[in-house]
Amino acid sequence: MCGIIGVVSGIDFKVSFLLERLKRLEYRGYDSYGYSDSRKTVKSLGAIKAEGLSLTRIGIAHTRWSTHGGVTRANAHPHESCNGEVIIAHNGIIENYWELKTILERQGHKFRSETDSEVVAHYFEEKIKQGKGVKKAISDFLKEVSGTFAILMMIKGEDKIYAIKRDSPLVLGICEGKKAGAKQIQKHILASDIYAFSDITDKAVFFENDEFAVVEAGAYEFYDAKGSLIKKKVQSFEWNQEEGKKKDYKHFMIKEIEEEPLVVSRMLLSLDHEQKDQFKKLVSLVKKSRKIIFAACGTSYHASLLGAFYLHTTGIEAQTLIASEFKHYANVDKDTLVIAISQSGETMDVIDALKYAQEKKATIVSLVNVPYSTIQRMSALSLNILAGQEVAVASTKAFVNQSVLLLRLAQEFGYKVNLSNLGEKIKGIFSQKDDIKRIAKQVSSSRDAYVLGRGQTYPVAREIALKVKEITYMHAEGMMGGELKHGTIALIDKGTPVISLIGCNDEDMVSNTKEVEARGAEIITITNNASQCRGSAKNTVFIDTDNDGKFGILACVAGQLLAYYVAEALGREIDKPRNLAKSVTVK
Ligand code: G6P
Repeated sequence: MCGIIGVVSGIDFKVSFLLERLKRLEYRGYDSYGYSDSRKTVKSLGAIKAEGLSLTRIGIAHTRWSTHGGVTRANAHPHESCNGEVIIAHNGIIENYWELKTILERQGHKFRSETDSEVVAHYFEEKIKQGKGVKKAISDFLKEVSGTFAILMMIKGEDKIYAIKRDSPLVLGICEGKKAGAKQIQKHILASDIYAFSDITDKAVFFENDEFAVVEAGAYEFYDAKGSLIKKKVQSFEWNQEEGKKKDYKHFMIKEIEEEPLVVSRMLLSLDHEQKDQFKKLVSLVKKSRKIIFAACGTSYHASLLGAFYLHTTGIEAQTLIASEFKHYANVDKDTLVIAISQSGETMDVIDALKYAQEKKATIVSLVNVPYSTIQRMSALSLNILAGQEVAVASTKAFVNQSVLLLRLAQEFGYKVNLSNLGEKIKGIFSQKDDIKRIAKQVSSSRDAYVLGRGQTYPVAREIALKVKEITYMHAEGMMGGELKHGTIALIDKGTPVISLIGCNDEDMVSNTKEVEARGAEIITITNNASQCRGSAKNTVFIDTDNDGKFGILACVAGQLLAYYVAEALGREIDKPRNLAKSVTVK
């Protein structure tokens, strides 16, 4: 993960501009940050303060999610070489850094941090000392260095940024500048993703692996690994920046949950209009394939579990694997359709799983939220889930749209569901906010929580538990109702909150709930069965829907709200929980 940004301009800009851009990438990691305008490098711990009145025409900045080395100022980027001539910001992992560091130390280089990244600065200082031109040194770097990287590098005295990419995302934004005389001055912004500049330009050039660029104020050139000049296409992209603002909401997370009715309708509509052809192609690929295997991580994995459930119900051979274990558990061949599910489109474990699937000649499809992302570009076919920018680290509206798209897909294969009133049904849950808040207050005094589901609510149980863990820091487990008695029931004690997701006629879930209730658990029921809401069932959220695939998704919305209000009651940092990042671009 980590976010990197670089700006080169023909006219002066304030350092605060660079940091404002960096702030838009803060969701990629927020342990520490730093910037350099090539004269001085400044580093800080904690949240980015977009301040700085000093003027510059060039600068790079970095927001960190620690991998190698703790959260310290010394480990924050940018890193400088010994003589301070080379300044770098890096996202990714230099796998052979130890070997390189040992060689560089023998050559007299002194390291100031515990990071893998710092070797990059010393490496280039050494190559330049040996009389190599920077471009030639980059070609050497691409040969000699293993790992993943998006690197921005400045050499003191040069008004250029060198940008190098392998596996970690990197994009160049082209901003039309003010006119100075007859000359149009352009500002070039290099960044981990288009969010960094999507409010000021819609033109970008995407880096492919093992490409590098030399970027100046009014010009840029791209090269392949050997250093030969290559032509790149400038792409126009659309992105709604309005959605990235918090407006009057206390947190992005609650704003994003409340957007669910709107984004669901937008996505469903697009499958009948703008994305109609892609959707048809997806249906035909599913028909043609011998089996479907999803690859995803985190929340997206839970959506894919729902997808596997829906497709499986229609008789399609479908399974899902957590992407980091994909190659260990998937049997993939040319008749397999691999469907990657990813909000960011940049998750490294998913990218790795897709590379493996490519080697095995499988067809790759993806459902992503961030357009032009690496995963989208790796896919033979990609559909956009159109959830709009999701800023809160804990994913909510993206999960809903991923799941609904998969449900819509299953509908094509005979799954019976009415999706036309889904937005209204979600609003029906919002109308129970006061009850959910009351229940949340009760849950917030516990150390642990368990969430139980079966069938379509099993993935949802896991997703609700994940939300609780991510933003409340409580221990929570989402489980199959049937599995509880095989061990975990030992942990149920007097007052332990158990959230039970009970669909109509699901007698097994009712029994599982009774089993924990008998052992003193405090039951919270999320159900579409009105009879569950009678009598002693004081902690119940009623989901007014049939037992079609909507129930699970709606139950998840109730769970998202519950997790949010527990975190609020505990006073947690809801949008940026500790140790997490929204986009995980390391293995
Ligand atoms: C990170 C985020 C999660 C997300 C997961 C997968 O861990 O914190 O919220 O679900 O990555 O991300 P993706 O972008 O591939 O959906």
